[in-house]
Amino acid sequence: MMKTLFLPYQVLNFSSKKFEVHQRLHSKVPKMELTITQPDDWHLHLRDGDLLKAVISSSAKHFGRAIVMPNLRPPITSAAAALAYQESIFKALPRDSNFTPLMTLYLTDMTGPDEIKVAKRSGVVYGVKLYPAGATTNSQDGVTDLLGKCLPVLEEMVRQNIPLLVHGEVTDPSVDIFDREKVFIETILEPLLQRLPQLKVVMEHITTMDAVKFVESCKEGYVAATVTPQHLLLNRNALFHGGLQPHNYCLPVLKREIHRQAIVSAVTSGSKRFFLGTDSAPHERHKKECPCGCAGIYNSPVALSLYASVFEEAGALDKLEAFTSFNGPDFYGLPRNSSKIKLRKAQWRVPESFSFPFGDIVPMFAGKTLEWEAILV
Ligand code: NCD
Ligand code: ZN
Repeated sequence: MMKTLFLPYQVLNFSSKKFEVHQRLHSKVPKMELTITQPDDWHLHLRDGDLLKAVISSSAKHFGRAIVMPNLRPPITSAAAALAYQESIFKALPRDSNFTPLMTLYLTDMTGPDEIKVAKRSGVVYGVKLYPAGATTNSQDGVTDLLGKCLPVLEEMVRQNIPLLVHGEVTDPSVDIFDREKVFIETILEPLLQRLPQLKVVMEHITTMDAVKFVESCKEGYVAATVTPQHLLLNRNALFHGGLQPHNYCLPVLKREIHRQAIVSAVTSGSKRFFLGTDSAPHERHKKECPCGCAGIYNSPVALSLYASVFEEAGALDKLEAFTSFNGPDFYGLPRNSSKIKLRKAQWRVPESFSFPFGDIVPMFAGKTLEWEAILV
């Protein structure tokens, strides 16, 4: 049976001033603290240039490693470009940081099997990203026909043991946007895995009950999924609550409440198939608040706090560490981090925005009060 879970807008209600004061005056509950192995972020957009410099520290503060998405302009389509991008990330990092960016290649119709061999040898590439052409931000150079055009590359990925990281949505404009993940599973992912059962696949940022069932039906260790804070906490009502909410718009788009509940149940069950991937995707405010706003939610400053709230609400805080810090490295065949991080039950207010010389970035749950804070130990 599904556990009773808090509704998305209870989270938002926590931010009312009345509630905060009440908590401070009357709460006799001692502060709860959890020490966990340092988490990694298995799906992150770090961008480049000024934006990279602006956002890198919010990830480096909490996470040991991150799988860095390659959807720059131009996209990262070669091992050489991945290496150069990794160097620019290292340069942008605060001096004392131990954060390690794990790089990815952007798959195109033109990617050749040799590039996969070079990528493996480079030692910096940990996955190849499939963007169906036109599915999301900077996906215009993506794949038009996966099985028709990319089979030799996918076969080489099996040989080199490099996982395919999937943006799992079809792009056919006649398919309803809320059905695009389900249709992708049926028409692309299932045939792909029938053809190449040895291919390792991460379904990134899953949003539906259908994706949960699909991942659970696959061979453990071969198919896994990352899950974002927004798809655990918000349903599609959050896009329209009191008016259009561009800062809750990401792709794949938020879904119905039943899907959110299925994802919460899956991640809090303790299954090894699901792990943390924020999909933190910063865009400058003016690119979100405009007539044709970009998809993407900047959540890295709040992500750990929000994941902790989800697990607490489900009565599953004992399963949090596996989701944040074990399942990801185990799937990728990498060592778990040895450093620790502390999560403390303490209220803090998310800034309304972060200001930089080039503009503002509005984080997820801007101005709201959250219940957990992350501290390094
Ligand atoms: C991402 C971005 O902005 O790069 N946007 C998003 O809504 N998640 C791209 C992506 O992961 O789909
Ligand atoms: Zn993404």
